[in-house]
Amino acid sequence: MKNVLVTGGAGFIGSNFVRSLLRSAPATRVVNLDALTYAGSVENLKDLPDAGRHVFVHGDIGDRPLVERLLRAHEIDTLVHFAAESHVDRSLRDPGRFIQTNLVGTSRLLEAVHAVWGEGASAHRFHHISTDEVYGPLSPGDGARQETAPYHPSSPYAASKAGADHLVRAYGKTYGIPVTITNCSNNYGPYQFPEKFVSLMIANALEGKPLPVYGDGGQIRDWLFVEDHCEAIGQVLQRGRPGETYNVAGQNQPTNLEIVQNICALLDDRRPRQAPHSRLIQHVADRPGHDRRYALDTGKIRRDLGWRPRHSLHDGLGRTVDWYLENQGWLDAIRRRADYQTWITENYANRGAPRTDAAVIHSSEINATP
Ligand code: NAD
Ligand code: TYD
Repeated sequence: MKNVLVTGGAGFIGSNFVRSLLRSAPATRVVNLDALTYAGSVENLKDLPDAGRHVFVHGDIGDRPLVERLLRAHEIDTLVHFAAESHVDRSLRDPGRFIQTNLVGTSRLLEAVHAVWGEGASAHRFHHISTDEVYGPLSPGDGARQETAPYHPSSPYAASKAGADHLVRAYGKTYGIPVTITNCSNNYGPYQFPEKFVSLMIANALEGKPLPVYGDGGQIRDWLFVEDHCEAIGQVLQRGRPGETYNVAGQNQPTNLEIVQNICALLDDRRPRQAPHSRLIQHVADRPGHDRRYALDTGKIRRDLGWRPRHSLHDGLGRTVDWYLENQGWLDAIRRRADYQTWITENYANRGAPRTDAAVIHSSEINATP
């Protein structure tokens, strides 16, 4: 891992990964290719350690001549692919953009890699970041999904990521490109764009705005602190076997309502004069096709690579809340943007109240297999 090309390294997880890589691999140089969509910003890269080993390139993963030039000019041996459209709610309104970036963009990237690295490029690695959403929802009592589980994506986002996973595996099998994939659960932590659940709840609570919980709030996700995710990717790059897929998750199964209540309690502790923040919780109409529950079996990465998350949900959420409290300038700059306000209006203004007949599942009823 001398020269690493990171795609989407100005986004949430990508910028955390670039920071973690520069810190943990002192001889590695990082080229960061990012199109700076609404979700990406060079503001996320302001505090990089040893920034002299980092080069930022403003460009699109679908620009094959550009990618080929970067691969050659920087003698890239490792590519870590984060770039994507990543928000499920946006994929419900504009699926085409997700197909274009996540599927077509990934295929262009693979074409460039194949052209430059050639076949059976054993000294190289193409690592693709994917999601637990490709496996589709679990029913109460289902065991957590292993890497061999069939794909049943529900949303255009999940379907586009599933297609990208298949393409990456196909390039591994057909052309001998050494590929690895990680399918991870919901990330949270510093620099998350305030449209996703945890970051939006913190941002709204800080402004005393309603905390919009879809439906009954009984949906279940696994929550992974972003630094734990970055460490897992580092382990897969160093010791993961080409052709393999690894699940990465925080190994918890709270309901959305429990997450937002935890965030409110952490804020009550830090801002007692605004307590109780839970008074801001508001149930709103559900997301169409909303998957009820995801859960990942992480036995493989634990056994084969010795990785495990170092942060409990409580610690991770505490660190996240503190980061947003300390970085309100970062948050305000995004929240003031016209494109951000347009999205919030589009997604929330006319949402209405939730149906009242939805079944409520509490996490204590769920038989989660670790
Ligand atoms: P993000 O939306 O915060 O960042 C995506 C980044 O990709 C942005 O910087 C954006 O500018 C860039 N980008 C988008 N289109 C591009 C293009 N055509 N060319 C170059 N750059 C482009 O996303 P994130 O939350 O950091 O997610 C990163 C990856 O992890 C994605 O592949 C996502 O599917 C996956 N993932 C995320 C989560 C999560 O909870 N956030 C969970 C599972 C998997
Ligand atoms: P999100 O952060 O969008 O991630 P994903 O859909 O990829 O899991 O949403 C996490 C959960 O929170 C999901 O069940 C939808 C729910 N949610 C809300 O209840 N309210 C919101 O405003 C958002 C954005 C999400």
